[in-house]
Amino acid sequence: MSLSERLQVYQSCVETALDYWLPAADLQPRHLHKAMRYAVLGDGKRIRPVLVYATGETFGVDLGTLNGPACAVEMIHAYSLIHDDLPAMDNDDLRRGRPTCHKAFDEATAILAGDALQALAFHVLAHAPEIKVSAKQRLVMIDILAQASGSRGMAGGQAIDLAAVGQQLNIAELENMHIHKTGALIRASVELGALSANDVDPEAFEKVSHYAKCIGLAFQIQDDILDVESDTETLGKPQGSDMQRNKPTYPNLLGMDGAKEAAQRLHTEALDSLKHFDSVADPLRWIADYIVQRRK
Ligand code: IPE
Ligand code: IPE
Ligand code: MG
Ligand code: MG
Ligand code: MG
Repeated sequence: MSLSERLQVYQSCVETALDYWLPAADLQPRHLHKAMRYAVLGDGKRIRPVLVYATGETFGVDLGTLNGPACAVEMIHAYSLIHDDLPAMDNDDLRRGRPTCHKAFDEATAILAGDALQALAFHVLAHAPEIKVSAKQRLVMIDILAQASGSRGMAGGQAIDLAAVGQQLNIAELENMHIHKTGALIRASVELGALSANDVDPEAFEKVSHYAKCIGLAFQIQDDILDVESDTETLGKPQGSDMQRNKPTYPNLLGMDGAKEAAQRLHTEALDSLKHFDSVADPLRWIADYIVQRRK
C-alpha cells in the first residue's frame, strides 16, 4: 500500500469512528448535537488522528484498536478550533471552507459545543472498548490528553497567544507559545498512539515523543507561513488573519526565509529521531514531510 493510500485508510477509519461516537443530530438537545457534528465532521485534514494511527502501527498496534484515541484527539482539536474562532479570541468567520460554528449556530451554542466535545473526548478515551491496554495504562493515556489540553498545554498556549496580541515576543517566547497551543496536542496524539501498545520500549517512546515535539512546532510555523502565503479558498479559513489581528508569528519575527529555515531544521531533527525505527515508521516520516510542504 502506498503512503497516500494508507493515509486515506487512516482518514476513513477516523471518519467512521467519529460518526459513531458523536451523538445523533436528532437527539435532544438537537441544536447542540448538530453544532458538535458540524464542527467535527467538516473538511479537516485529520492530522492528529493520522498521527495516532501511524504511531500505533509503528508500535505494532492494529488500526481498529486506535479508533478511540484517534477520535479523542480530533474532538479536542475541533473544540479548540470552535473556541479559537469566537469573537473573544480570533474572531474568524470561516473554518474548513464554511462558516465557523458560532456563525452557523450562535455564540452560546458554539461555546457549549466546544465544552461538550472536550468532555466527549475523555469519555471516548475512558470507554472505547477496543483499547487493549491495562486500566492503569489507559489512565496514563487519559492523563496525557488532559495535560496536553489544559492550562499547561493547549489552553495555556491559547492564553499566551491572546496575551501576546500586539506584543513583540522574542524567539524563545514565540516557540513556547507554539509548543503549547499546537505542539502539545500533536505530541499527545503520537504518545497516545504509542501507548495503545502494551510493553512500550521507553527508548522508542522517547524517540517518537521527540519526533512529535519537532513536528508539532513545525506544524504551527507552517500554519503561520500559510497565513501569509496561501489564499482563503485553499486554506478554508481567512488568509491574513494573524496580520489583521497583529499576532506575533514566525514570519513576523524571523522573516519568511527565517521561518522556512526553522521549519526545515525541525523537519530534519524529527527525521533524526526516527533513525531508531526501520521502514515501519515510514508513515511518520511521510507525515513530517507533509507538515512542512503542505499548502493548506
Ligand atoms: C489548525 O489546525 C489550527 C492549528 C493548530 C494550526 P489544522 O491545520 O490541523 O486544521 P484542520 O483540522 O485541518 O481544519
Ligand atoms: C490555533 O492557532 C491553535 C489552536 C486552535 C489551539 P491559530 O489561531 O493560528 O489557528 P488557525 O490559523 O485559526 O487555524
Ligand atoms: Mg488562534
Ligand atoms: Mg485562529
Ligand atoms: Mg493560524
